[in-house]
Amino acid sequence: MASNRTFTMIKPDAVANGHIGAILDKITKSGFKIIALKQTSLSAEKAGEFYAVHKERGFYNDLVAFMSSGPIVAAILEKDNAIDDFRKLIGATDPTKAEPGTIRNLFAKSIDANAIHGSDSDENAEIEGNFFFSAFERI
Ligand code: PPS
Repeated sequence: MASNRTFTMIKPDAVANGHIGAILDKITKSGFKIIALKQTSLSAEKAGEFYAVHKERGFYNDLVAFMSSGPIVAAILEKDNAIDDFRKLIGATDPTKAEPGTIRNLFAKSIDANAIHGSDSDENAEIEGNFFFSAFERI
């Protein structure tokens, strides 16, 4: 994946609360092009694999349970400076600390159910995009 791409997931809380359309609208109006998009569900095993890097953290089991609790929407996005610009657009991990107008400020209620994921590096964006999409789907 090129370095102008990032990977995102709309998390189960935001899907359950009917925010898919509003969040995708905000993403595209902020200049991101959708390269790949799908709604799917993560088993506990797949969620554990996706978040394996956080295995030693106290919240790992809760995070895995939450991420496998309902459907998610996965997407690969493209824009210049995608990683940093998207992290700004989604706001701080803790929605009470997220800047006004950011996706977590608008759509998240708590740090453990914070509406959206955004990759933190080019390397992880590639790994995460490959986790959900085949080579054919991410052209
Ligand atoms: S980040 O964005 O990776 O810098 O944030 P970090 O604080 O390292 O958190 C890593 C992911 O764990 C989620 N998280 C939590 N889940 C449940 N409970 C608590 N307390 C909690 N704290 C952090 C956080 O949303 C990150 O998930 P992603 O999917 O990357 O947003």
